[in-house]
Amino acid sequence: MPGAIDSQTRAEITRLRETLHYHNHRYHVLDDPEISDAAYDRMMQRLIELEATYPEMASPDSPTTRVGAPPLSKFESTRHALPMLSLDNGFDEKDILDFDQRIRKLLATDDAIQYTAEAKIDGIAVALVYENGRLAMGATRGDGEYGEVITENIKTIRSVPLVFQPSKAHGLPSLLEVRGEVFMGREGFQRLNQQRLSDGLSLFANPRNAAAGSLRQLDSKIAATRPLQIFCYGVGRFSDLQVTSHWQMLSSLKEFGFKINPLTRARVTIEEVFDYYRILNEQREALPYEIDGMVIKVDDLLLQAKLGIKSRSPRWAIAYKFKAAQETTTLLDIEVQVGRTGTLTPVAILSPVNLAGVTVSRASLHNEDDIAQKDIRIGDTVFVERAGDVIPRVVKSIPSLRTGEESVFTMPKQCPVCGADTLRERNLISGRLEAATRCMNAGCPAQVKENIKHFASKGAFDIEGLGDKLVAQLVEKEAITSAADLFYLDKSSVIDLERMGEKSARNLLAAVEKSKRITFDRFIFALGIRYVGENVAGLIAKHIPTLEDLFHVTKETLLTIDGIGEVIAESICFYFQQAQNRRLLHRMIEGGVMIQYPAAIQAEYLTGKTFVLTGTLQGMTRNDAKKQLMARGAKVTGSVSSKTDYLVAGDAAGSKLDKAKALGITIISETTLNKMLSDATDSSPSSVI
Ligand code: IVH
Repeated sequence: MPGAIDSQTRAEITRLRETLHYHNHRYHVLDDPEISDAAYDRMMQRLIELEATYPEMASPDSPTTRVGAPPLSKFESTRHALPMLSLDNGFDEKDILDFDQRIRKLLATDDAIQYTAEAKIDGIAVALVYENGRLAMGATRGDGEYGEVITENIKTIRSVPLVFQPSKAHGLPSLLEVRGEVFMGREGFQRLNQQRLSDGLSLFANPRNAAAGSLRQLDSKIAATRPLQIFCYGVGRFSDLQVTSHWQMLSSLKEFGFKINPLTRARVTIEEVFDYYRILNEQREALPYEIDGMVIKVDDLLLQAKLGIKSRSPRWAIAYKFKAAQETTTLLDIEVQVGRTGTLTPVAILSPVNLAGVTVSRASLHNEDDIAQKDIRIGDTVFVERAGDVIPRVVKSIPSLRTGEESVFTMPKQCPVCGADTLRERNLISGRLEAATRCMNAGCPAQVKENIKHFASKGAFDIEGLGDKLVAQLVEKEAITSAADLFYLDKSSVIDLERMGEKSARNLLAAVEKSKRITFDRFIFALGIRYVGENVAGLIAKHIPTLEDLFHVTKETLLTIDGIGEVIAESICFYFQQAQNRRLLHRMIEGGVMIQYPAAIQAEYLTGKTFVLTGTLQGMTRNDAKKQLMARGAKVTGSVSSKTDYLVAGDAAGSKLDKAKALGITIISETTLNKMLSDATDSSPSSVI
């Protein structure tokens, strides 16, 4: 009811927002968290609930808005108040000495100039406009004059402040446009591509493309799932900020809560810049994100103003680029690998070549379209590139060096592992042809192996000692044909495997035994459902009470979970509808798997939650159930509305069930209800199916 909010609740909302902003800054900007993720999540959950109850308290800079907003149909364009410039490039010491000399000549001085040296982050330039300390707009650089308004996507980047506080030295500028580079770290990039590979989606060529693709998502809920970060390196238009040097300006941004790259060196001479370039170049590979050089800027803002700009770049700054680790070599062959979901991935087999100290003989080629578009043929001389840790990639071919012996690559029509037909599927929603070709045989040994490897991996069942080679042997010897078979292994079935002595057999069986107690989120992740990575698995485990509920979950219910969209929901429902998957899951449970449900969260479900009971219950009357729920702080009402949290569906449930489905209310069984009732009195972790 609008206006019904009391001053105490209003104060609680304000306090929660401030506290969440504070801890977000500690975690994502300072890399120095003070509280546990669980404590943070609890506060966030409370704020989400309060904002849902009091919609009039909604605010565009609430921490709850970081999960994304409804999709846009297009991006608006915005004219930058001050153009977003680019930089001239220098490639060797001479270029940089020339730059320094040019500056001294223009300023008519022989004195050494003080520079600030920064890492040049390989990402996407953005402008963040703050009005009275609140993020009003985020935009891409675009052509430097006009950019695209991507505010909702920017808000999902946790290291971007949504609001900032006055600083002691500078107060609160009424207008401040901060500029910086949005990027994706190496680890986040690899995880994203790994997930895309197993989902049969096209891969991003490098972290920069992944960052650009994520920022240009019309659906900010997708951007919210991408591990984007920012380093701020400058300002556009601003008011009421008294600074005289670039370094002072960076320091004030830091005070306001913006993330500044810790590698920045303040006030250095041009000679010190050269030393620092060498250090950065050596550190480069070990950094958690990609840099492609350094940026050298005149520190004094007055001198910057005197030097001015020429066409599109400032005279007071230059990019000192690193040499790219690129080489040419011969593409000997294209091998096709089969992944967990049957995706066929072409891999380039190269004549070995040294790329910045590493011998490279394989490189990724992404997919069929990419190969065709770049006209890469077997036998071609090709350019290969290695950027940091990332898998080397074939950049392009050199057609002028062809002999006529080269051959065009086509994706095999039959799976190279099992011989079944391959297919390029159409996207369930858009109807467009998927980038990936897949083997359609779910029993394909390559898929089975990859599935089991995933199932046993660290974030999943974490079965120690069950490495790739062992999985391959178990599948090839037909000791197992699915992940569920792992729980039926005995000594006789493993003792004959290569390099398997009495002791390792015992260890393996003990590790399998130990893995059987597993938390719900890890269990869901282990299943390898398309589009369900660790993140999504965590969301499901948080919102769907038990595995049994997952068996009956509807798309509508899943869509009510923030972070789950059409494609993911469709895929989850599809998975649980398949009889063979249900059989597999039952076999796991019968084999001794015990799922640990988050008891604390379950108990919390009851207090203040609204239940509707419908249909005939087996073990108790509806009245009993009502009493028990109410005794644990839940409300029980007679009709389903958008306020209903759970509908308990007994036998022969009728129209209430239909209405709950239509409204996307979580529907639970009597078994789950019993489980929730017992959890609410017993806070120890428990297991049911
Ligand atoms: S300053 C007027 N500093 O490099 C100066 N740019 O080639 C404008 N970049 O568009 C940019 N790290 O996207 C600056 N520390 C840094 C940077 C940086 C990366 C990017 C930025 C810019 C491009 C210029």
